[in-house]
Amino acid sequence: MAVFNDLNLENWKESEILTDSLWVIKERDKSGKHSNFYHGNFIPQIPHQLILRYTKKNEVVFDPFVGSGTTAFEAETLGRHFIGVDIQKDLIEKLKTKVDNKEYFSEMISGDSSKDTTFYKVNEILKKQKKNNVSLAILHPPYADIIKFSDLKDDLSNEKSLEEFLYGFSLVLKNTISILEKDRYLAIIIGDKYTAGQWIPLGFYCMNEAQKLGLTLKSIIIKNMEGNRAKQNKEGIWRYRALSSDYYIFKHEYIMIFKKS
Ligand SMILES: C[S@@+](CC[C@H](N)C(=O)[O-])C[C@H]1O[C@@H](n2cnc3c(N)ncnc32)[C@H](O)[C@@H]1O
Repeated sequence: MAVFNDLNLENWKESEILTDSLWVIKERDKSGKHSNFYHGNFIPQIPHQLILRYTKKNEVVFDPFVGSGTTAFEAETLGRHFIGVDIQKDLIEKLKTKVDNKEYFSEMISGDSSKDTTFYKVNEILKKQKKNNVSLAILHPPYADIIKFSDLKDDLSNEKSLEEFLYGFSLVLKNTISILEKDRYLAIIIGDKYTAGQWIPLGFYCMNEAQKLGLTLKSIIIKNMEGNRAKQNKEGIWRYRALSSDYYIFKHEYIMIFKKS
């Protein structure tokens, strides 16, 4: 059995864990606390798969871009402790009322994940909870400026250029790596974008930032994007535009898995 999860391989044929690098997930899991109110959230199946594959019960999962709390709810359901950060204070206050914090702690901080001061608070929580580090980090940053999440200056979706976005993201990565247990995993969920008629491979740029910081790339998973709200009910128009021009319609995003050595 792997040292980094609780999977029981006695009945491996029935396992729900995906092992292919192509994930086609037809429908969002809407069970439990997942409400899908937040534009720009990811489907719960992503943290569900990652938590089961890369952590054991009672370990700590960390998400520096927690948003509406999809990772927090999955961690709670699967019996993992959780620490989440988001730059939007309102969102964090709302999330605090939704997590139960009973058997497993679920602590939320509002702050800028690229700042050392925010990670000082994260470390305080770890100390208070008598934990040395986190065992899995799930990072779902803004896809640069595709969705503007707030008016806050330090919100990564407000960075003025691709270079500034990548610099800010690399600081979040560096801070996150500092609290990640050795030999454990970090996942980046990201998509690409078009700017001025040019495909910008955001996913690969972010992957590059992680590799520059010494993380080992373990997998690049391609996941389908269905029912993307921005494109909902406009499939026909997008297809017509694509056919009358020279581009393809985004239908995928990346889940990149790294290991800290
Ligand atoms: C793509 S969303 C994450 C959504 C989340 N996975 C969910 O399912 O709800 C990105 C989040 O990053 C937050 N964010 C942007 N810049 C940030 C920063 N510098 N520090 C912390 N959070 C930030 C935004 O407020 C937004 O909620």
